[in-house]
Amino acid sequence: MTADELRKKYISFFQERGHAVIPSAPLIPEHDPSVLFTTAGMHPLVPFLLGEKHPAGNRLVDVQKCLRTDDIDEVGDFCHHTFFEMLGNWSLGDPAAPDGIGTGYFKKEAIAWSWEFLTSDKWLGLKPDMLAVSVFAGDQDAAFDQEAYDVWKSLGISDSRIARLPKKNNWWGPAGQTGPCGPDTEMFYWTGDVHHVPEQFDPDNSQWVEIWNDVFMQFHKQSDGTYKPLMQKNVDTGMGLERTLAVLNGQDDDYQTELFIPIIKKIEELSNKRYGDFVDSDCAMRIIADHVRAASFLMAEKLEPSNVEQGYILRRLIRRAVRYGKQIGIQGFFTVQIAQTVMDIYQDTYPELNQHKGFIQEQLLREEEKFVKTLERGVKIVKQYARKLHEEPQDLGKIVFDLYQTYGFPLELTLEELKRNGVLFSSPELHSLFEEKLKHHQELSRAGAEQKFKGGLADHSEQTTKYHTATHLLQAALRTILGEHIEQRGSNITAERMRFDFPYPDKITPEQIKQIEDLVNRVINRAIPVTMQEMSFDEAKQSGALGLFASRYGKRVKVYTIGDFSKEICGGPHVANTKDIGHFIIMKVESIGQGLKRIRAIVE
Ligand code: ALA
Repeated sequence: MTADELRKKYISFFQERGHAVIPSAPLIPEHDPSVLFTTAGMHPLVPFLLGEKHPAGNRLVDVQKCLRTDDIDEVGDFCHHTFFEMLGNWSLGDPAAPDGIGTGYFKKEAIAWSWEFLTSDKWLGLKPDMLAVSVFAGDQDAAFDQEAYDVWKSLGISDSRIARLPKKNNWWGPAGQTGPCGPDTEMFYWTGDVHHVPEQFDPDNSQWVEIWNDVFMQFHKQSDGTYKPLMQKNVDTGMGLERTLAVLNGQDDDYQTELFIPIIKKIEELSNKRYGDFVDSDCAMRIIADHVRAASFLMAEKLEPSNVEQGYILRRLIRRAVRYGKQIGIQGFFTVQIAQTVMDIYQDTYPELNQHKGFIQEQLLREEEKFVKTLERGVKIVKQYARKLHEEPQDLGKIVFDLYQTYGFPLELTLEELKRNGVLFSSPELHSLFEEKLKHHQELSRAGAEQKFKGGLADHSEQTTKYHTATHLLQAALRTILGEHIEQRGSNITAERMRFDFPYPDKITPEQIKQIEDLVNRVINRAIPVTMQEMSFDEAKQSGALGLFASRYGKRVKVYTIGDFSKEICGGPHVANTKDIGHFIIMKVESIGQGLKRIRAIVE
């Protein structure tokens, strides 16, 4: 089966069952400043899982582009990816009809459809005796998922193939610290010897590969850590396209599917090595393939490598790919050639790659050049450290980590250069010192990221809602004072403050800052109602509404209007009247590089 057949089958199966097809949202969330990337199909749908009405209805299906960087270190094995496609179907509180006629759409329907899609010869035709499932075992927060268990039993699954697992395995969400979440049921396929399929399902045996996850979003996690039943019960499912494609084609290596073979071939050609020959070079090839693919998709959304936020992740992906390329002996600049194979693979499915071909090539080349310079500089710095180390003992772990953290100089290269400069050290010891420091650093940044999540779409508190509307006012004021070409590049909102990035290469004077602030406050004081209308994207654009992506929520979009001052396509939420915002104060205006300015502001 090809990737496209799988995408199409999935979509048609659910279309036949009353689901509206919605397009993939961008990888870089447009209206959700709380997350760097779309990491699951449910992310762009959070407001609708919480009860807002989705313009396309309450049964949806899509193929969502996703990017996850939390397990970037696991990329290199057969089945982990940063970028991947997620097939998903949703019930947004599709209720059973009150008179009992009509089915509604919750556990029974979702599980039965998953099973039918996986096993029916008309669809995927997987053998039932090679499938196993898991359900939530229950704990102090929520009971054992008897309902899901009973549905599986009614479909003929034997007890030995139904594992009951704790929250760690069978619970999904919330996306942030609070929000919709619930028990899930996961489906696994046996990828080991077909003649020896174990009767007993063992979730710890990695030959049972998870291919699909049905989440029943029936709880809302509160800020005190407790779980309250949700008024609206939802289904959120996710099937990994790459992994399922491998399974369907009898592969245990996603990188041997048609989505990767041309990329791996190109890397073989450039490195003069064969995939499958050596464990180390195979792993490097998979990392290069994964990272260049992910980077290409990010740049197709006009993201540039930088030192902040999404741009920083993009930079890391490109640089890691380059580093592994060097490790397997690729000479000269090479990422552009690999990106070309990515564009070829996806030319029909994701035309945005080819549309931004020039931009992607230019950015890749520029970043490779910069990185090579960094490496050269790093070699010099290591030399200086080596000289110092010969003079007196130093904390080698700290040096190695600083070089990594501050100069982006990779550990392996630092060690090589230290060796070349005659510094003696125990490699395993230094590795563990480095790991320790890295772990500490990651814990700190994870804590930061969790903080960040708090202000996300999952958080519709009064305070963040004020900031959402203030963001629209600020954008409109910037366009009035600095020029009509100003357009938001990114924003971030917590309950304490807002941040807004936009391209503006010139200096912004204190007088201009005062004018912008005053204008926002004048509009707030005029007590203008904030109104919302649903319309098609084309109508929204014709009406002069701001908004970058054509197809975030399918054909219908929401347009928020504030008098004749601001009109933007946005998912909300917003205050009812500008006077609800309070007083707006700009705290800081700074340059963040690449001609971008960042404004930090608060309301009180
Ligand atoms: N949101 C669920 C997941 O990502 C479906 O696995």
